[in-house]
Amino acid sequence: MNQEEQQAALATIAHEVHACTACSLHRGRTQAVPGDGHPNADIMFVGEAPGFYEDKQGLPFVGASGRYLDELLKMIGLTRQQVFITNIVRCRPPQNRDPLRPEIEACTGYLERQLDVIQPKLVATLGRYSMERFFPGEKISKIHGKSKRIGGRIYYPLFHPAAVLRNPSLKPVMEQDFRKMKQLVDEFDANIPDDTPPEDDPPPKPEQLSLF
Ligand code: URA
Repeated sequence: MNQEEQQAALATIAHEVHACTACSLHRGRTQAVPGDGHPNADIMFVGEAPGFYEDKQGLPFVGASGRYLDELLKMIGLTRQQVFITNIVRCRPPQNRDPLRPEIEACTGYLERQLDVIQPKLVATLGRYSMERFFPGEKISKIHGKSKRIGGRIYYPLFHPAAVLRNPSLKPVMEQDFRKMKQLVDEFDANIPDDTPPEDDPPPKPEQLSLF
């Protein structure tokens, strides 16, 4: 698919999301939030669900969490136009309550299709609901910043920006995780698929290590 075709395929998915009635969340929405960003992005962020402002504007992460996300992206030399941002659930839950399992399941197909179109090198989950989709049964406090590579794609769990804003002592950790994420993407093509350990590479010589 070329970029124009990717753009068109994403527009089709977005159109379906806007008309979706697959779970009860559609009843309370102002508008659905399909996701936004570059059709050929290297990094795709998956958050939790639209909040008040996202529901009004139809765009992901446009409130306080979004401003913080923009800051973190800027820190690693990126803008939101260069990445793709979406959520595990595309309609705002009432009073911003946590999304329920059937709501997540009703929305999963849209995420899979967006992944197929965009083919990002890295999927960064923001918070525990999207983490659960790719790292079932794990704890965010334990695995944030630890990547796994499956089928030629890196999955990378991050804290939710809102959780970091609520607990600013997590800011240095979040910044470190973002820097590491950028490095993983930059080194993507040199990475070894499926976390397979290298067989033939000899360990670096001590004098090489001292260069760093
Ligand atoms: N929080 C999310 O998880 N997603 C948004 O789009 C906004 C806030």
